[in-house]
Order: sequence, then C-alpha cells, then structure tokens
Amino acid sequence: MLDRFGRSIDYMRVSITDRCNLRCRYCMPDGVELLPMRSILTYEEIREICAAAAELGIRKLKVTGGEPLVRLGCPDLIRTLKSVPGIEQVTLTTNGVLLGRYLPALVEAGLDAVNISLDTLDRERYAAITGRDELTSVLDSVDAALASPLRVKLNAVLQKGVNDDEWLSLAGLARDRALDVRFIEMMPIGLGKQIEGMANTLLREELLRRFPELEEDASVHGNGPAAYVRIPGWKGGVGFISAIHGRFCGECNRLRLTSQGGLKPCLCYGDVTDLMPLLRGETAGEERAALLRSALENAIWNKPKQHCFEELESITEKGRMARIGG
Ligand code: GTP
Ligand code: 5AD
Ligand code: SF4
Repeated sequence: MLDRFGRSIDYMRVSITDRCNLRCRYCMPDGVELLPMRSILTYEEIREICAAAAELGIRKLKVTGGEPLVRLGCPDLIRTLKSVPGIEQVTLTTNGVLLGRYLPALVEAGLDAVNISLDTLDRERYAAITGRDELTSVLDSVDAALASPLRVKLNAVLQKGVNDDEWLSLAGLARDRALDVRFIEMMPIGLGKQIEGMANTLLREELLRRFPELEEDASVHGNGPAAYVRIPGWKGGVGFISAIHGRFCGECNRLRLTSQGGLKPCLCYGDVTDLMPLLRGETAGEERAALLRSALENAIWNKPKQHCFEELESITEKGRMARIGG
C-alpha cells in the first residue's frame, strides 16, 4: 500500500521481545524492566497481524528484538511467518550470541537472511561495549552463518573514542568473506542521544582515499536503508546506514510492530497504535480482521514524512531501541 507521500510500504519490522542477553552501553546498559509475558504479543497474535499486513501489501518481514533469539520458539515463529500468504521474505537481526545454536533450526524454518551486530573485533572492548564477554560466540556464529545458505550482513555502530579506530578492520571482514559490513550512524534514540557517533560521510571519504577503485553498488542487498559500495577483488560489500548524514526517509518502505503490540510508523516519533485492545477484545471473525486491516491502513497512511534527528527536542520517541526493534 502507498502512504500519503506515495511511498510503497512493503516491509514490516517485528520486535518479538525487548529482552536481551547483552547490555550495550548505547542501548540498555542496566537491562530492561521485565514486562509480564501477558503484555507481549503471542506468536499467534503476531501471525494474525502479519497476515493482515500481507493483505495490504507487506511482503517482507524483519524479526528483531531486543534480541529475538532469547524468546523461546523463534524458529517456529519464522516458519509460521514464512507460510503467511503474501509474505515473500523473512529475515532476522540478532546480536549473534545464540545464533550458532539456533542456526540449523532457523535455516530449516525457511529464514532468508541474517544480520549480526558486531561493533568491535577486540574481546575486551566487546565486553566493555556490550557488557558481556561474548565476542567468541558471535564470531563463531558469523562463521556458521557464512557456511549456511543464508545471506549474511554485519552491523557496526561506531562510537567516537571507543571503537572508531576499528572501522578499517571491520570493513576488511568483507575482503575475504561473502558478507556485507554496514556502518550504522548512532541515532539519537534512547541512550544514543548521549553518545557521540561517527559520520558515515567521513568514513566513505576515508574508504575512497584508501581504495580509489571503489564503486557504488546499486544492486539489492536487503530491504533496508543501507547504501553499498564495492571494492574490486573483495568478496563482500561495505554498506552505510546514514540515518543522520544521509536522509533516506524519502524511500522509506517500512512499518514497525513493537513486542507490546504497538504499530509504529516511524522510528523517531512516539506515536503508536495499540493493537492490544482489538487483539484481546471480544470482536472476532471477519469484523476483527477488517478492524485490524483498517488500523494498519491508518498507520501506513499517517506515516510521517521524515525523521527530525537534527532537532533533538522534536524527537518524541522516548523509549529505548530494544523496545522499538532497531
Ligand atoms: P535489510 O537491509 O533488509 O537487512 O534491513 P535493515 O538494514 O533495515 O536491517 P537491520 O535490522 O540490520 O537494521 C540496521 C539498522 O538500520 C538498525 O540500526 C536500524 O535501527 C536501522 N534502521 C532500519 N530501519 C530504519 C528506519 O526506517 N529509519 C532509521 N532511521 N533507521 C533504520
Ligand atoms: N543508533 C544506531 N544504531 C543502534 N542500534 C541500537 N541502538 C542504536 C542507536 N541508538 C543498532 C544495534 C544493532 C542494530 C539492530 O541497531 O547495534 O546492530
Ligand atoms: Fe541487545 Fe541490540 Fe540493545 Fe545491544 S543494541 S543491548 S544487542 S538489543
């Protein structure tokens, strides 16, 4: 379906939990308040929402968290979502800690691709950034994912004075591996407001200085806002998710569903449509399906034109990234 600015909305990010087994300093260094399971969408409710979304033209689903793999039965959900009529692609974004363990089940369930967060290659730094000594398990998961049929992308968020000196070694992972390394600019959401990130414009210039043969790559790598470059001879690509220094809102194709059943049209704003009263109410059958479609239609139609990350006081999203699903 088109929104009122003519953008085609065919992708939904589905956060299935706001819990996580890491404690990233820009996300949830002290953990999250534990919500009762009752306030979290059941897998059946998620399927129902995705089925209604598919009727409106959503074709791709991204399963996120928190950390999606800490919720029991994630592969079963992937299998269910893949079988929803109209859904063409289901992908997962994970911190990678548990990925090695679940990979066979995820592949078997029909997962199409995986994105793994990796901000540093140094074990002590990893523990300092994420609060847990888990670098080895993440690197093992990356290797396992590369050996699987899944397309693999890595997500790196650079923080000034913390890991910005590693950009070249992180990018270099794409030299001999068939994966994309993407640099995400720190967004002023949650604790990200207080942490200085790195401008992707600068990284791009540096990369071009070192690799003048670098080429823009317009081919499709995923369904997200990343722009990619290719360095001749490298097996994988380098991508930039430039939320601050490259506005991509004009091409935005997405809607978000929070783990608590909130339909969220834009990352930057706090507005959500709470689907819980409908899902847990008395209405049933075709009437319920029609109400669900209409809630989705409204959220898509009223999607804001763009974010306002450059005006901190206008950002109305006060929650953490883990609750929103990245
Ligand atoms: P694929 O390319 O299909 O894998 O999707 P993706 O890049 O959107 O997936 P991923 O879950 O790995 O997201 C990477 C980063 O992009 C996260 O930090 C997200 O917060 C950010 N991102 C995703 N969608 C949006 C968006 O609509 N607006 C902004 N500002 N950032 C987004
Ligand atoms: N800004 C940018 N990226 C963020 N992520 C989490 N919080 C922020 C933020 N404030 C990233 C994670 C993960 C991806 C899904 O979102 O590092 O790679
Ligand atoms: Fe967990 Fe991702 Fe938040 Fe880190 S950024 S604490 S991995 S949800």
